[in-house]
Amino acid sequence: MNKLRVGIVGLGIMGKAAGNVLKRNPHVEIVGGADPNLAKRKETFDELEIQHRYESYEEMFEKAGLDAVFIATPDWAHHAAVVRALLAGIHVNVEKPMTTDLNEAADIVKVVRETGLKLQVSYNHRWLSPYNATWKMIRAGEIGQPLMAYARKNNPIFVPTEMLPWAGRSSPAWFLSSHDIDLICWWFDADPVEAHGYGMKRVLVKRGIDTYDMIQGQVKFSNGAFATFEASWIYPNTHPAMPDSFMEVIGEKGHIHLDRKTEAIEMSTEEKFKWPRTLLNFQVFDKWVGAFPSAVDSFVDAVREDREPYVTAYDGWRATAVLATLHKAVETGNIEKVPTPPVWK
Ligand SMILES: NC(=O)c1ccc[n+]([C@@H]2O[C@H](COP(=O)([O-])OP(=O)(O)OC[C@H]3O[C@@H](n4cnc5c(N)ncnc54)[C@H](O)[C@@H]3O)[C@@H](O)[C@H]2O)c1
Repeated sequence: MNKLRVGIVGLGIMGKAAGNVLKRNPHVEIVGGADPNLAKRKETFDELEIQHRYESYEEMFEKAGLDAVFIATPDWAHHAAVVRALLAGIHVNVEKPMTTDLNEAADIVKVVRETGLKLQVSYNHRWLSPYNATWKMIRAGEIGQPLMAYARKNNPIFVPTEMLPWAGRSSPAWFLSSHDIDLICWWFDADPVEAHGYGMKRVLVKRGIDTYDMIQGQVKFSNGAFATFEASWIYPNTHPAMPDSFMEVIGEKGHIHLDRKTEAIEMSTEEKFKWPRTLLNFQVFDKWVGAFPSAVDSFVDAVREDREPYVTAYDGWRATAVLATLHKAVETGNIEKVPTPPVWK
């Protein structure tokens, strides 16, 4: 089989990370990249040895002859690029959350179904061995039916203030809890039906970023199980974790705790104390390893093997449905119903 001709849209942090994995995949040729800020991203294009550089993904989709594309634009800028790619006959891997708008998410699922193309959402935590083991243990009935879950992901404040120039158009829940919501929906294997929660806008607003400092919400599922999700973007920058991440599932017959806060490694120098991140994406000798590279390679396999990706467009819709409902509930102060999926489920 010929190499898969792949393009990347958005050459920021995640587009570069995907490129570094794709570059080492023997079944892939990176044939192009698109980013409106070509000058700022020159180093990344050079590092990934991408010859064909475009300011617009529309032009790349038209000219580059792509089989598949990795879309890593900011949270709110996924839908247009995804739909454009699918309509051009290109398989898509899109960063999480699939979209921050429920109508856009439904539209993407519709176009995926109409075109018959592959779409994977980068909920790469499903490839992290402890989270994947949790799924297997729950499916094997080891803790009985899961009844309650708790998930926390908190970041130091440099993430919204320095790392993500578009933080004001997202939120800690869209950025962080999206992973946890995907995991819990996957583990529970039940439909989310209602959500309520609280959010606070105080610290980031004062720094000119109009989004929540933190959101805490509860989601109820069709089988009566419930889960709490919390995410904050305002830990002090002295905090050594990125993110401080903890998850718990309690079932009829047992429990599971997943503590990713320290990532099993601690270091200190005279200047800093750190828990360096290695589990999600880390270069070991000549290869990138961890959940993120596994997810990237798995999408390539799904296209080559003509099989369903392990995280589907429907999964992307479901996490967006929960998050859109939770944000609405935070605004109204009411318990809000999670919409039922359109007929394509
Ligand atoms: N899967 C994960 O674990 C994970 C981790 C972090 C971020 N993300 C997600 O990845 C996405 C990208 O995040 P990031 O940290 O790389 O952001 P970033 O700001 O570093 O990069 C975004 C890039 O997209 C480019 N861009 C903006 N509009 C574009 C357009 N119309 N066409 C082409 N390029 C465009 C920007 O110029 C920038 O280079 C977000 O949705 C984010 O939530 C996922």
